[in-house]
Amino acid sequence: MSHTSNTESNDTQDHPLAAEAQPYEDDSAIGDDDDLDSTASLTASIYNFREENGRTYNSYGDRDLQHHLLKMTFGLSGCGIDKRDGMRRVLDIGTGTGIWAIEYGDLHPESIVTGIDVSPVMPSFVPPNVRFEVADVERPWTFSYEFDFIFSRMMTGAISNWKQLIQRCFDNLSPGGFFELQDISFNLRSDDGTLSEDSALAKWAAYMLHASVNVGSPLNSVESVKSLMIDAGFVDVVQHRYYWPQNSWPADPKLKKIGIWTYHDFTCSLSGISMALFTRGLGWTVPELETFLIDVRKDMKNTSIHAYWPMFAISGKKPDHPAAEA
Ligand SMILES: C[S@@+](CC[C@H](N)C(=O)[O-])C[C@H]1O[C@@H](n2cnc3c(N)ncnc32)[C@H](O)[C@@H]1O
Repeated sequence: MSHTSNTESNDTQDHPLAAEAQPYEDDSAIGDDDDLDSTASLTASIYNFREENGRTYNSYGDRDLQHHLLKMTFGLSGCGIDKRDGMRRVLDIGTGTGIWAIEYGDLHPESIVTGIDVSPVMPSFVPPNVRFEVADVERPWTFSYEFDFIFSRMMTGAISNWKQLIQRCFDNLSPGGFFELQDISFNLRSDDGTLSEDSALAKWAAYMLHASVNVGSPLNSVESVKSLMIDAGFVDVVQHRYYWPQNSWPADPKLKKIGIWTYHDFTCSLSGISMALFTRGLGWTVPELETFLIDVRKDMKNTSIHAYWPMFAISGKKPDHPAAEA
């Protein structure tokens, strides 16, 4: 493959992340209305955002919150594919509420965007160039046409066979078509030793990862996507690395803002995302889990723990003339 260029990870944001020089003073600082961490207006804006959408604290609203956080991190595409022309047929796999598909469709009236999801949670009123289907992406695909752009976001933990899914994406792209995946890795870390292995937060992330391996859908799957894409035949594979600080601890204003949204995203959904994995994957009881989560929540708001979640955007292109490049 003569013009294959698969770049190493590009660190999109400065690294290591610098923490704000401010002592951690009060457990109740984040998330309270009279926020002590200079985040009051931002915290209020998060709640306003959710009220504007007419939903509070249900899973639909949580996903809108997460969409906002993902867009702050990546834009619609972390690899710039949303800026390209010629993406006539677009597929969003595991579309959820369809919010990405709708925004992409609004931005690109020339495209026909299909969102598929195993759960029928998509809205019924959508732009004329956006359509949704209920389908399981792990079962054989039956599209009668090829796509110019296939997109996958936050599907880690939902897929048992990534090799098969990525090969399917490749096979269902037109020559010259693009695939982009955006996802989180549950390899929570800190660069300055402030995330102790004994902390409830570090234990929670490790338990989540362990449980996800036990149930067959590892929560660090994104870390193998780049090599699976290369194996499937993608060229020009690029991986961009981003960061979700666990709360407002970074000094950098953009990362601080992302951290505040990350804090709200995780704490609003903590019980929900933990329940199935801890009970089915580790055999915990519900009371055991809820007791443990009390300390996890405390650590999540502790700004002296400089923890962050690695985030990735990875894209690749199907060769223009696949046979000639083989
Ligand atoms: C965390 S949500 C992400 C939603 C959307 N991609 C976003 O970023 O807003 C994961 C979605 O994948 C869907 N999903 C899980 N397994 C699936 C499968 N096998 N086929 C299709 N969708 C699936 C779930 O129903 C859920 O809506």
